Amino acid sequence: MAYRMYDLIEKKRDGKTLDKEEIKWMIDEYVAGNIPDYQMSAFTMAVFFKGLDKEETLNLTMAMTESGDTVDLSGIQGIKVDKHSTGGVGDKTSIALAPLVASVGVKVAKMSGRGLGHTGGTIDKLESFPGFNTSISMEAFLNQVNDIGIAIMGQTKDLVPADKKLYALRDVTATVDKLSLIASSIMSKKLASGADAIVLDVKCGSGAFMKNYSDAKDLAQEMAELGRGAGRKVTAFITDMDEPLGLAVGNALEVKEAIDTLRGKGPADFTKLVMELAKAMVCFAGIADSEDEAEKLLKNSIENGLAINKLKEFVKAQGGDERAVDDTSLLPEAKYETEVPADKDGYVLGIECSEVGTASLLLGGGRLTKEDVIDLSTGIIMKKKKADKVEKGEALAVIYYNDEEKMKVAAERLKAAFKIGDVKPDKNDIILGRI
Ligand code: URA
Repeated sequence: MAYRMYDLIEKKRDGKTLDKEEIKWMIDEYVAGNIPDYQMSAFTMAVFFKGLDKEETLNLTMAMTESGDTVDLSGIQGIKVDKHSTGGVGDKTSIALAPLVASVGVKVAKMSGRGLGHTGGTIDKLESFPGFNTSISMEAFLNQVNDIGIAIMGQTKDLVPADKKLYALRDVTATVDKLSLIASSIMSKKLASGADAIVLDVKCGSGAFMKNYSDAKDLAQEMAELGRGAGRKVTAFITDMDEPLGLAVGNALEVKEAIDTLRGKGPADFTKLVMELAKAMVCFAGIADSEDEAEKLLKNSIENGLAINKLKEFVKAQGGDERAVDDTSLLPEAKYETEVPADKDGYVLGIECSEVGTASLLLGGGRLTKEDVIDLSTGIIMKKKKADKVEKGEALAVIYYNDEEKMKVAAERLKAAFKIGDVKPDKNDIILGRI
């Protein structure tokens, strides 16, 4: 059945509901180039004001999922479990989590993005391992998961082309931050990636898309419902991003922190997050019957070196230099480092997380446009986090840099990001909620 885009825009403008066929037609025609951007932007703006109900959101998600290639993981034995984070500052979770769960038998066939913003995405971070290849063929990807239980590759060009077009359009028409559109955008990519079960990490706070708990919970709920509506098992965690995750912000520095964590020597908040997500993945995979049992397996894997060995195996399988896991001086290293000192005594009341992200970006560790080249070596190590005591002159953070001018700007931003006062506040909990 053919429709007129004009009628669909008018329908949504007037607050009416679109049916499945109308949504499918619209997405297919948009991808085929038969609906111009000006009509699609009018439609997304109508959605921004009038919303989509649950059924429309699911129909949109499914139409987007089916707009290009979908990954068939049926050749891999067992329950395939994926994980997705809505992203934040210092979020190196997948680099520790994926080898950890693979080391106890979970099949991880993961597609990841490069990402714009503070640091690169998982794919960029993995490229800190010299030689690591993230553009492997689908055949090599599937074979590797069958052989060693883990592979991570960049999203293929034809995975959810509808989202590529639509997200780029939303980005320039002030229609990104609409919950139903965010949820359908993220979930269409996860569904097309083929996993049977999905663990979602929805970040909440000043360094995240969702600034407050209520919005983060709504997004988590919406994404979980979409996944379940599409027949997948889903659980969603709402986790803190009001201060950077762990201590490291910046690509190679984050990889080092992920390595430490797989050796049982990571920062407490990051270790807890990795463990909670890992437990959920292990249970979804049917490897443990309870989260307590999963925790025992995972801790044992860290203590016995199975987790770190799985990382080495994974890096080697994708052409990377696995010696960098033991000798991290083989990872990209910045030429210089400098401390950012506190200018008074007190306690850290809070850290403006997005400013730490911006400081990392300004050092060269992130991208503003898709074409930007990332400096994998630069970044920040937090020396103080919320509720820590600090003395005047003591380091709040250390900056790793290659360019003096960039460092100066980043240092100013970082210093201003720390709020210091007299009364010790409570530490943040890393896990804020779960759906
Ligand atoms: N990330 C996505 O992939 N899509 C959105 O719409 C927002 C964040």
